[in-house]
Amino acid sequence: MKILFLDQSGKPGGAELCLIDIAKPYRDRSLVGLFADGDFRKLLQQHDIPVEILANQPIQVRKQSNFLQSLASVGQIAPLLAKVVQTAKKYDVIYANTQKALVIGALASFLARRPLVYHLHDILSSEHFSQTNLRIAVTLANYFASLVIANSQASQTAFVQAGGQEKLTEIVYNGFDSQNYQTSEFEVKKIREQLGLEGKFVVGHFSRLAPWKGQHILIAALSECPPEVTVILVGDALFGEQDYVQQLHEQVAKLGLENRVKFLGFRADVPQLMAACNLVAHTSTAPEPFGRVIVEAMLCGKPVVAAKAGGAIELVEHGVNGFLVTPGESQELAQVINTCVAETEMTASIANRGKAIASVRFDIVAINQQIAKLLNQLSDDYKPTNSRDSKSVS
Ligand code: UDP
Ligand code: GLC
Repeated sequence: MKILFLDQSGKPGGAELCLIDIAKPYRDRSLVGLFADGDFRKLLQQHDIPVEILANQPIQVRKQSNFLQSLASVGQIAPLLAKVVQTAKKYDVIYANTQKALVIGALASFLARRPLVYHLHDILSSEHFSQTNLRIAVTLANYFASLVIANSQASQTAFVQAGGQEKLTEIVYNGFDSQNYQTSEFEVKKIREQLGLEGKFVVGHFSRLAPWKGQHILIAALSECPPEVTVILVGDALFGEQDYVQQLHEQVAKLGLENRVKFLGFRADVPQLMAACNLVAHTSTAPEPFGRVIVEAMLCGKPVVAAKAGGAIELVEHGVNGFLVTPGESQELAQVINTCVAETEMTASIANRGKAIASVRFDIVAINQQIAKLLNQLSDDYKPTNSRDSKSVS
């Protein structure tokens, strides 16, 4: 099957890193079309996945755009749509990996008469999106998509609650190759030396710097932990959240934590850095759709504490394979960190269990088989001439 994957981003967020794993098995006969250039394009090339930048300029609609702003973008999307339609005719399926890709992919699916798959990486709720964007996404998915792959039960539920058709949906978790998360003791020692972390209890946070990812909650918690506890913040402001970065630095200075918080920026060596941590914290203040970092921490054999909402609840069972805390509650987070500092044996056994479960449950080979099966069914079922008639329109 020849697939045209579409993604709006030039930057490597979680949805884009997931797409690398999905596109890889199809790389000899597929194309990833991006709506912006950037490091994601380079990563795809490193994995020998054919990639083309389809837009001359990035589309300006933001997650919280209103109706008028959305309309204004129509002028920008016409040339992109024409390019996507022309390209799509050379492929069997259009696979939209982001919301703007859904908008273009839906129209292209109609014009090029190709089935559309929408990989839903978001929780379609008002905490994350404007009403306009929610309505556009759900309506387009209902009307044009033959399949909606939700990255968690939480994303699927939100889609249905927002008016999405349940029968279109299938839940498929992100897959991971556990081999990529093995790091030698020697490497760990080297990283700890390089970063000046010897003798410290290191809590790692691996995420783009954005208010809803809640780095500020971890910094607040740190002020209630013993002095050997140090935080590394791994990730960058990928989507222009410079004010938040400034606020984080001010918060660190105000609490006198300059020597205990390290901002490492975006890093390509996440598994190695995770291996150098004693605990990985996930602190999203809004429900996380899936949360790749939670699974990655488990695969690295590290204990993980996650904010109890969204997809995280599906990944972590408190006290079994990790810890859950109330989102936004820094004191509760501090308590868990302090428990992990004190009770190393109990914490290690939870981490070991987390690793064993995650390496089976999120195995990339099994997940890719699940996706291949869904895509094959799709090509068997798709009849461009009558499929629209058989669907109800919301
Ligand atoms: N990541 C990375 N380098 C960084 C920070 C994060 O490669 O400096 C990766 C991280 O390992 C994870 C992804 O970015 O695979 C983030 O995905 P997640 O699902 O956790 O959150 P998202 O940012 O997609 O909402
Ligand atoms: C999105 C979500 C994140 C998820 C990733 C991969 O970026 O924000 O929670 O893990 O997609 O599905």
